[in-house]
This record gives sequence, structure tokens and C-alpha cells, in this order.
Amino acid sequence: MSNNHLTRRGILGTGVALTALQGRGAIAQRQPPGRPSPAPLDVDVVAVGVGITVNGTHRVLKLDPRTTLLDALRDHLGLTGTKKGCDHGQCGTCTVLVDGVRRNACLNLAVACDDREIVTIEGLGSEQALHPMQAAFVAHDGFQCGYCTPGQICSAVGMLAEIKRGLPSAASPDLSAATMAISETEIRERMSGNICRCAAYPNIVAAIIEAAGRTNG
Ligand code: FES
Ligand code: FES
Repeated sequence: MSNNHLTRRGILGTGVALTALQGRGAIAQRQPPGRPSPAPLDVDVVAVGVGITVNGTHRVLKLDPRTTLLDALRDHLGLTGTKKGCDHGQCGTCTVLVDGVRRNACLNLAVACDDREIVTIEGLGSEQALHPMQAAFVAHDGFQCGYCTPGQICSAVGMLAEIKRGLPSAASPDLSAATMAISETEIRERMSGNICRCAAYPNIVAAIIEAAGRTNG
């Protein structure tokens, strides 16, 4: 029993040590979250042309093919309203609309968005004429620090469009229903990919419910 125990420990210890040694190299090469642009390769990278319509304006960019849509928007077009949080598809703060569908811009390569229509927070409304979702977030204090807010608002707009199209969620009680109800449960489920570290969730939900009422008449 004792020998077995020691043997297992020894195997585990060796495994951990090996993992740690291998991990050293990986950690040294890993880029920190929020990296501004792809790291240079040892090989020549040929820039590719990408044509995207952003907030109603057609833009043509020459990009490293590894450039994400998020980096293209922020670093190449100066549209910094779209925020970079995790840069790994985990927080939703980079959400934009691609052909009307919400997407994590950090998970989409810009080249894959060629010929697509992109709407960012800058294109939803203006200071003079806020989008109903923006106005509802202001009215309900749907934010604290505001870092997640552009993503929350774009996601909420895309989410209401999904409900309108009859797409069910994991919280939908009747998957075959002709019309989907806009309930608090539905909103919380459908917005679960948008993390708010300030935990402004109750106000975010209230804002979305109000905006849903306005946009649906
Ligand atoms: Fe894209 Fe977090 S920055 S999901
Ligand atoms: Fe601060 Fe959401 S308002 S992270």
C-alpha cells in the first residue's frame, strides 16, 4: 500500500515537473491579454486586401491575414469603442454586429469578414440621437465602469433580433413557439456571454427589457 502510494506520487511528481519545464517555454512565448497586434513571424507574411463596410462606410485595408476583426477595428480604423477584454472569446466585451448577427470580434479574422457589414457601438447611434438600447442603458444605469458596455449594447441589439427571428435559447420553454417571449430569464440566458465585472446585471436586464418594449412598439 505504502509502496503503491509512493510510486504514484513519484509518477505524479515527475509529470508535474515535466509539465512545469515545458510550460516555461510556453509561458515565455505567450502574449499577455490585450496584445495590440499579431507577433511577427519568422516567415514573410503577405498582407491581404480586405473590404468591409463599417458603420455604413466601405473601407479597404491591407492586413496581416492573422489580424482579428477586433484589431482591425481598433488599430487600423481607430474605432476604439469596441473594447478588448480577454481577447479569447470569453468575456463578450468585443461584441459587434456582422451582417446583423452578434459576434465576438476577437474570434473573427478580419479576412473572414470580407464583404460583410459591420456595425460597432459607434454606428448604433450618435450623441444627438442615441439608439434606443443606448438610451435605455443610460436611463437604467446599466453600467458602472462602462468597459463592458459597448459589447453589452451591441450584444443586446443582436439578441433582440435573434428573438424576433424566433431563435430559441436554452431557457426557452417552448422551442416550437411561433413567437419568443422576452422575459428576464430569456435575457439573462441569452446575454450570458457578456460578462460585467462590475456586476451591473440587474440594471442591464432592466434596460434591455425597456428597449425591447420600445423597439417592438
Ligand atoms: Fe473578445 Fe473577450 S475580448 S470575448
Ligand atoms: Fe464595469 Fe460592466 S460596467 S465591467
